[in-house]
Amino acid sequence: MSGGDGSGGSDDVRVDLPLEEIGLSKHFHSWENLYTGQDGLALETIGVSKSFGAVKAVDRLTLAIPRKGMTSIVGPNGSGKSTLMNLLSGTLPLDGGLVVIDEVGLKVVKPYETPQHGLTRTFQEVRLFDQISVWDNIMVVLTERRPFAALLERSKPGHRQKARGILQSVGLWEKRDVMAQELSYGQRKLLEIGRAMALDVDTYLFDEPFAGLFPQMLERVKDLMKQIRDSGRTIVFVSHNMDIVRELSNRIIVLDSGQLLAEGDVEPVLGRPEVIEAYLGA
Ligand SMILES: Nc1ncnc2c1ncn2[C@@H]1O[C@H](COP(=O)(O)OP(=O)(O)OP(=O)(O)O)[C@@H](O)[C@H]1O
Ligand SMILES: [Mg+2]
Repeated sequence: MSGGDGSGGSDDVRVDLPLEEIGLSKHFHSWENLYTGQDGLALETIGVSKSFGAVKAVDRLTLAIPRKGMTSIVGPNGSGKSTLMNLLSGTLPLDGGLVVIDEVGLKVVKPYETPQHGLTRTFQEVRLFDQISVWDNIMVVLTERRPFAALLERSKPGHRQKARGILQSVGLWEKRDVMAQELSYGQRKLLEIGRAMALDVDTYLFDEPFAGLFPQMLERVKDLMKQIRDSGRTIVFVSHNMDIVRELSNRIIVLDSGQLLAEGDVEPVLGRPEVIEAYLGA
């Protein structure tokens, strides 16, 4: 990649990068066509790439996610959705390109610093502290410390009140003393969302929050996401469930082979021939 090292801000970087190199030429005629949203952008990627050996999991991807509301990320299996989430959250290092979080351009996204940038995420394969209680899984986040320090601080009244509120909204208050590893799959998904809520950030990335859930759990996760959205936050979620994508998201991003196939308002995008073909061909 040629030119700017990012030190001059994202505008300088944009000018320095050839459009083909950052995957723009196929979809946009100019930067002016890029979506900026009424409330500005929560997230952008500019020419981000990630390969695993010969597999280009994310290939010069340039996209914009507006602040507030819900943006869904869809695409066939292996199209790069989780890799994109991993790059946005710093779970995986970028091979190239730039992630812009809350208007700060980053070539290196450090996962433990993303809450400071106002962002957190959940995983397709749920990640919790399995060996401690449901309650302590929330307290660890609230106290923003390593597990043992958090356990010592568990009596702080403000934290206790907040933990109780979160566990009640995710429906796990009755399970607060149970070890996380004893929860059902759906309850684990809820606890992971509870942990994300405890961070109290502006932008939430949820990778397949509905996968494998029974209808009742699914409704609960939907309600939680609506609650987070209605509090003025930004949600980005990956899903294969098109009914939910249609119901929840006001914007959609379609990936195919690590590249941007389409982005925009949900119904028009899902009706595009190339999008239909990508799904039927999968
Ligand atoms: N850690 C890894 N090591 C090697 N290859 C990987 C790794 N992670 C992803 N890949 C490959 O990168 C490509 C994109 O994978 P990714 O998990 O991002 O897809 P996805 O769109 O999330 O798929 P799914 O809908 O099945 O969750 C796939 O070919 C996958 O096999
Ligand atoms: Mg995935």
